Amino acid sequence: MNVGVLGYGTVSSAFVKNFFLKYKYINKKSSSFINITKIATRDIKKVTLEEDIILTNDLMEVVTDPNIDVVIELIGGIDIAKQAIIEALKNKKHIITANKALLATHGIELFNLAKQNNVNILFEGAVAVSIPIVKVISESFASNKIQSIYGILNGTSNFVLSCMQDKNMDFKEALKEAQEKGFAEANPTLDINGADAAHKILLLTALSLNNNNLNFEELKYKGINNIELKDIEYIKELGYSLKQIAYSKIIKDEVYIGVEAMLVHNENLLSKVNSSMNGILLEADLFGKSYLYGTGAGGKETSSAILADLIDLSFIYKNENLDFRYFRNNTYVKINENIVWNHYYIRINFKKIEEDFNLFIKENDINIIEKKYSKYEYEYVLLANDIQLNKLKSFNEANKYFNISITYPIL
Ligand SMILES: NC(=O)c1ccc[n+]([C@@H]2O[C@H](COP(=O)([O-])OP(=O)(O)OC[C@H]3O[C@@H](n4cnc5c(N)ncnc54)[C@H](OP(=O)(O)O)[C@@H]3O)[C@@H](O)[C@H]2O)c1
Repeated sequence: MNVGVLGYGTVSSAFVKNFFLKYKYINKKSSSFINITKIATRDIKKVTLEEDIILTNDLMEVVTDPNIDVVIELIGGIDIAKQAIIEALKNKKHIITANKALLATHGIELFNLAKQNNVNILFEGAVAVSIPIVKVISESFASNKIQSIYGILNGTSNFVLSCMQDKNMDFKEALKEAQEKGFAEANPTLDINGADAAHKILLLTALSLNNNNLNFEELKYKGINNIELKDIEYIKELGYSLKQIAYSKIIKDEVYIGVEAMLVHNENLLSKVNSSMNGILLEADLFGKSYLYGTGAGGKETSSAILADLIDLSFIYKNENLDFRYFRNNTYVKINENIVWNHYYIRINFKKIEEDFNLFIKENDINIIEKKYSKYEYEYVLLANDIQLNKLKSFNEANKYFNISITYPIL
């Protein structure tokens, strides 16, 4: 089975290096003999390899090569990667990719084209790297109806929030620390604004539904850039951690997907997922609850997932009639955004004094679960249920009495 690689950056160079380091071991585990024969990357001078591999800066030279069976796309981005994959699929190459942005936004077109050409697209490296969640959902838990997925899926955001919580840094300081320590890109926009976690949770939802006819445009995600240190401090005192949670829930047959900062109680294992680590909680009808934990990024770690996909392909790549297991259903699934959580963290800023607020609580029969007067003037932090939150909102709309500054759902 001949392999062509697109790109020679963090992941692709680690993949090629580890393939040759473990060459015998990998080939012992494979059904067909695997070899890397060609690499295409923008600047071939960056490739320093002893092995006899053809190097080119023309991606098309790999994707149209009749001797190549599998194309591994590791250039990232949308347009060029998509064109290269389309051409490879038309030339009946199997694809392995770690490109979650591309699969989440154009997956349906690419998977349909793969089916038409009787080749497969594998993407274990695209979601949670050291957590083999693609295979867990679609293979190990295949008999289950997955009811919910809660994931800490972006290492950069998690690192930033952990620094804010553990080192009392504000958002800007924490992001700087993440960049200095190599946990954030020079341009971390897609990590911080929630888009990367949104790409990943869309893919996990598609796998759990066995259907990738989901429209990424319908998925609403919120970033962590407006989170204030004082909320992190309050939340810590209340016995919770603030985490960027990518969620997917099925409620009365409706699918809800989103990404936002949520409070996670200290007894929930997800609250222990710190620094740049990833963690996922799955809930389903048969296995109940399952927590998974692992490294969410890194060239070497991602190469492990790509090598696993490659070994899998060695068993099926010659099949004349591939039976596709990931996405067998193609009916459109609407993504709902207005999910109602049971409880919320609310921070209120007063325009009037505390006594008036106490009167309001009494008169409106609002049962505050917990309240706390802070060192910040005229500010309350409340943990309230969804009905109480709505009462607060409608009272406030009518009277313009106080500002609801922040609302975070509680997991
Ligand atoms: N890094 C991780 O930890 C990680 C983890 C999971 C998934 N991923 C995914 O893996 C993919 C690759 O990520 P990465 O971190 O390895 O990226 P990277 O370090 O930027 O590597 C990309 C490689 O592709 C080359 N390239 C880009 N555009 C090209 C073009 N038009 N023609 C030829 N070569 C081109 C780049 O060349 P130049 O060096 O000349 O720009 C570079 O060698 C992305 O989809 C990413 O989301 C990454």
